[in-house]
Amino acid sequence: MAKNRIICTKNNVDYLSIRKAMVSGARTIEEIVEHTGVCTECEGCKSELEAILSSVCGCKKVSLETVVKAVRNGADTVEKVGEITGAGTGVDEETGEACGKCKGLIQNIIDLGR
Ligand code: FES
Ligand code: FES
Repeated sequence: MAKNRIICTKNNVDYLSIRKAMVSGARTIEEIVEHTGVCTECEGCKSELEAILSSVCGCKKVSLETVVKAVRNGADTVEKVGEITGAGTGVDEETGEACGKCKGLIQNIIDLGR
């Protein structure tokens, strides 16, 4: 499970703000800039942003591409996406509790179809 950390040090934008922007529909670096104000002045942050954008479920290592494909193939609920891709079905290794932190993003991907 990814811990929160600052990604863009110049404008003080953290990981969770970027994930929140994704849950609100941001899918590209341009949209992340719009939502969060990351500066994108350094290449390091850019590649990190690309990595964050391309991942849906950190627990199960499921990519955006995989989830979008499942949704386009008819998975129209968070549960169905989980059955097909594993996304959203992660368990916290320490506590043994269901994680589910990516479920909001999965729902947004279903809503937008992308
Ligand atoms: S410090 Fe802002 S994108 Fe790198
Ligand atoms: S990030 Fe933990 S279940 Fe997806």
